[in-house]
Amino acid sequence: MPIHQPVLLKEIMELLNPKEGEIFVDCTLGSGGHAKAIAAKLKKEGKIIGLDFDKDNIEKLKKQKGIKAIQANFKDIKRILLQEEKATATKIVGEVDGILADLGFSSDQLGKIPGLSFRQDDFLDMRLDKSNPLTAADILNRFSQAEITTILEQYGEERRATLIAKKIIQKRKFKKIETVFQLKEIIQSCYPGQEKIRGIDVATKTFMALRIAVNKEMENLDKFLPVAVDCLKKGGKIAIISFHSLEDRKVKNFFKRESSKCICDEDQLQCTCNHQPILKIITKKPIVPQKEEREENPRSRSAKLRIAEKI
Ligand SMILES: C[S@@+](CC[C@H](N)C(=O)[O-])C[C@H]1O[C@@H](n2cnc3c(N)ncnc32)[C@H](O)[C@@H]1O
Repeated sequence: MPIHQPVLLKEIMELLNPKEGEIFVDCTLGSGGHAKAIAAKLKKEGKIIGLDFDKDNIEKLKKQKGIKAIQANFKDIKRILLQEEKATATKIVGEVDGILADLGFSSDQLGKIPGLSFRQDDFLDMRLDKSNPLTAADILNRFSQAEITTILEQYGEERRATLIAKKIIQKRKFKKIETVFQLKEIIQSCYPGQEKIRGIDVATKTFMALRIAVNKEMENLDKFLPVAVDCLKKGGKIAIISFHSLEDRKVKNFFKRESSKCICDEDQLQCTCNHQPILKIITKKPIVPQKEEREENPRSRSAKLRIAEKI
């Protein structure tokens, strides 16, 4: 299996079960691995729209037969589908059979986007979407100590967030923090004598937190989930593959809430919410890659797939 094998492909194909003539949206097109497999099942009569906010990915797939590749942030899925409706004079919103989001970034992007990998020295950019004006260096050089601490705590669950943020503020008084190795040195100085903790590099959490903040990963997911469900038809399915616990928790809580008859506070004796469930959870527990996939594609190890159906 090559390294670019799409994560959980077999499980996605089985559970989303795309069929001839259906409409699908792949919200994270990447190199098109999932989308190409889905397109082959939809045949000529079906339609798959692929979104990605990385322009390079869209350019590469612009001419791909069977896939309509559009550069967009998936939080805007409904607006994009309404535009597509107008352009093609076919109803799409409310008619979608399947929506897939394989969150985060690809191994291609890890090598290509400066600052994503802390193993190579580079400018601390981290933007997957080049139209985004905020780089990781901007956060490190412009944000307050309290703001940086919050980012590292909330998005990285970094236990030494306060100390790392304090050192960042001290260092930037003398020289802007603009490179991967400058930041790595600061983090390492907060963990004297320890390069790794339980096998994980001490820089991992800080770099992950900055990437999440730069690319607004949490805000995008919050905006995306309810509008994506709006776009599905009854019986249509939404599948989300996440790679860190913050994302997975968000998806899990959203599915739980939208499949519940009551969302009143637990201590409330009588229900007053009148909440109408709109989803049925298909995956009671998240699906994770089988041993074989985990061994062949190490990036798949943290993947969790959750699927729900619109009712
Ligand atoms: C893990 S890769 C997807 C790989 C893809 N499933 C495949 O088979 O090649 C995630 C992709 O989602 C894109 N992405 C991440 N957040 C996005 C967002 N909010 N809107 C649009 N694209 C996004 C990234 O640029 C990246 O190309």
